[in-house]
Amino acid sequence: MRNGITNCTVLRGLTEQHYQKSPSKFFFCVGDWCDWGWTMRKATWGLLLLLTCAATCDQSGQNQDGEQKGPSRRGHVSVVVVGSTGDLAKKYLWQGFFNLYASQVGKGYSFSFYGGGLSPDGRGTPLLFEILKSQDCPVDVSDERCALVREQFLRLAQYRQLKTEEDYQALGQHIETQLKQEGMVEAGRLFYLSVPAFAYADIAQRVNRSCRPPGTAWLRVVLEKPFGHDSNSAQELATQLASSLKEDEMFRIDHYLGKQVVSQILPFRKGNRKLLKSIWNKHHIDRMEIVLKETLDAKGRISFYDQYGVIRDVIQNHLTEVMTLLTMSVPKNLTDCKEINRNKLKVFSALHQLDMPSAVLGQYQTYNSEVQLELNKTKDHFSLSPTYAGIAVHTTMPQFDGVPIFLVSGKLLDERVGYARITFKNNVFCAQDQTSITCRPKQIVFYIGQGQLQYPAILVSKNLFKPALVNNGWKEVIENDDTLLFGIPLSDYYIQTPVVQQEAYTELISQVFRGRRDHFVSAESLLASWKFWTPLLNSLKHTFPRPYPGGAANGNLLDFQLQGREVRFCSEALVNMIPQEKTESFQVMQGKYRSADMVSAWSKELVERLAHDLQEAAEESVQEGTPFHLALSGGSSPLALFKQLTQHHYAFPWWNTHVWMADERCVPPNEAESNFRTIHDHLLQHVHLPYFNIHPMPVQLNQRLCVEEDGGALVYEQDIARLVNSSSFSYVLLGVGFDGHTASLFPGNRLGSSGERLVALTESPLKPHQRMSLTFGAINRARRVSVLIMGKGKHELVTQLSRIKDTPDRWPITKIQPVNGRLVWYIDYDALLGQ
Ligand code: BG6
Repeated sequence: MRNGITNCTVLRGLTEQHYQKSPSKFFFCVGDWCDWGWTMRKATWGLLLLLTCAATCDQSGQNQDGEQKGPSRRGHVSVVVVGSTGDLAKKYLWQGFFNLYASQVGKGYSFSFYGGGLSPDGRGTPLLFEILKSQDCPVDVSDERCALVREQFLRLAQYRQLKTEEDYQALGQHIETQLKQEGMVEAGRLFYLSVPAFAYADIAQRVNRSCRPPGTAWLRVVLEKPFGHDSNSAQELATQLASSLKEDEMFRIDHYLGKQVVSQILPFRKGNRKLLKSIWNKHHIDRMEIVLKETLDAKGRISFYDQYGVIRDVIQNHLTEVMTLLTMSVPKNLTDCKEINRNKLKVFSALHQLDMPSAVLGQYQTYNSEVQLELNKTKDHFSLSPTYAGIAVHTTMPQFDGVPIFLVSGKLLDERVGYARITFKNNVFCAQDQTSITCRPKQIVFYIGQGQLQYPAILVSKNLFKPALVNNGWKEVIENDDTLLFGIPLSDYYIQTPVVQQEAYTELISQVFRGRRDHFVSAESLLASWKFWTPLLNSLKHTFPRPYPGGAANGNLLDFQLQGREVRFCSEALVNMIPQEKTESFQVMQGKYRSADMVSAWSKELVERLAHDLQEAAEESVQEGTPFHLALSGGSSPLALFKQLTQHHYAFPWWNTHVWMADERCVPPNEAESNFRTIHDHLLQHVHLPYFNIHPMPVQLNQRLCVEEDGGALVYEQDIARLVNSSSFSYVLLGVGFDGHTASLFPGNRLGSSGERLVALTESPLKPHQRMSLTFGAINRARRVSVLIMGKGKHELVTQLSRIKDTPDRWPITKIQPVNGRLVWYIDYDALLGQ
């Protein structure tokens, strides 16, 4: 109630309605209702609402649209937009609520709209009403009807200062008084928090304490990204919010999920499942591209943007959501948010982890001066926030294994466009006419908007199949002009588009109102997404983005290409801003260390050299007609080597290689601490070698871990003796611990009678204490032993080892002296020089 205005619901079409003034109140009336007395009106109101509800909600509380289970009833809805005069509210939110109101009027709901803000009423009210008055009419509403609806909408709205706990208490009391006075049944309260994320937790707490509706009326709180800036902050925010709100009360918006084309990806996949079944996989899909290009810069929002950059701003959320919709299993029930969530989580758990070379970054050239200006920074301030990123994502899902998924976005590019494009391999051979339809490119494009088409659409190459319309609200488009989309004339595509275009926020606001959660982000999938993106963001923290001029002048500067799973810019940068600290020492150096051969270089080159040497050794074995028996240790040093091998050494003779273990921790092999697990995840699952050539250490026999009587060490030793000629491994790769241990041979370990043994149970000072390890005897029989040492942290150790004599009890590594083989130390410059 505001200025003596009572909000009274419209129950039939607006043509039947008229306003009637009473001495103290305005009633918005339907037919002859206003002739009835106030008391009568109250009683009948309740009855009518109940009747309407009985007709449209099933007993379980879930209606035919698959809306949220639980109490769902018609009645009064209070909408509170916190941050109601901000940019987002001005551009999209109030339009969404106006459209909602226009579509619901006459359907059994009544509304109050509260615009909340920090300003006092005197300042906030005119600002709010200025915005409300300017809302456009929904396309399906006549001007006459719209004028009425708008006037009524204005009457139902009021500004409220929402700054303190007391303000929220007053709001809660106001809603209750209004409901009581007018005898209205409460349907629910919808809070839209259009405020910076740091304010969420406090507001959620206040809403919980002072504005939670009593009884069975619902509470829905809508939140806008950013939901944190990495895994930890997202988790922290999720925990804070969960202390005030239940998960099903929170609606985390990603407005891309409300874009008409994005919301139809799953229906399209389901509706065309028979046609897609055989081609929606790695055998047919060449690659997926999910792209959001913008022509605008970040001016005016640098204080936000500079903390986030393009990956956090749009890739972690909008583009990632699209990626999940393209790669997840299509749920049986498209409105079952639990099933959708489960399937999305499976997508996240199957993604290959990203690191620095998975991305290229750019920054438009004027960005830095915008930062200096808007953040009041001095001329020597330099921002590393990227405004452009191209990222290649890969998944281990068998369906898409090996299919690159490019996620690309940038500001100040040549055009504004959003799309997800799936290009298919061309598996047809055209004997004569290369331009025949069967030989043309095949693609499915989810064209989100703008760009060349200027309308949202789903396009399917005619040489793929004719898709079914996604729903009744869509129509087929026949484009006969010669416009090219991705180099193909539009006439080569089947095109469908929505009959009426709708803003994403209007769609999502309507879904919140209906309690539909399937187009919102769950806490679990949000955290899974951050867990996926955080390591990449951390690894890029100090990367200098490539500067680009902006617009058409970018030319090919931002093109990038895939190499293995890594990406690189295609061209050299014109302006190189990256300090080249380490370039002068590019070469690999050879020398002696502890009387054995040593190879040294910066870590990247060192790993390249080690991988090369390893492959050479493997090829030699194969040429001699013997299998290559490779024993690998655990720890993190070999990970870079594994990556190098899997991404650059396609000719490695894996098929003739046996992989053994130098040591293992006594934990089940599927646990993260298991060395076998590490070798499996980083090497074995990416290369093809016969399964029977893989030899994990038997640390778990008889359902227990490393028990002497179970004889695991003996079993491994017998396997070695049976398969490896003279029990002499072709190659053993070792590391060294800070305490001088190697494999799992620790200082002070008494191997005693196991001196002649090849494998032994040992004790580590660190957890997990129990280990299984090759013995010195086994290692020293090898034809080649390499010791890899990397990182500044090992500098002290390297220096110390260079000085001491052989003291195996104190420094087990000093006992590594192959009898007939060769020992080579691979030490990077960080470890060698401590720089
Ligand atoms: C927002 C980002 O989430 O999405 C903006 O913060 C970006 O930086 C915008 O411009 C893009 O959305 P749309 O709907 O304009 O494609």
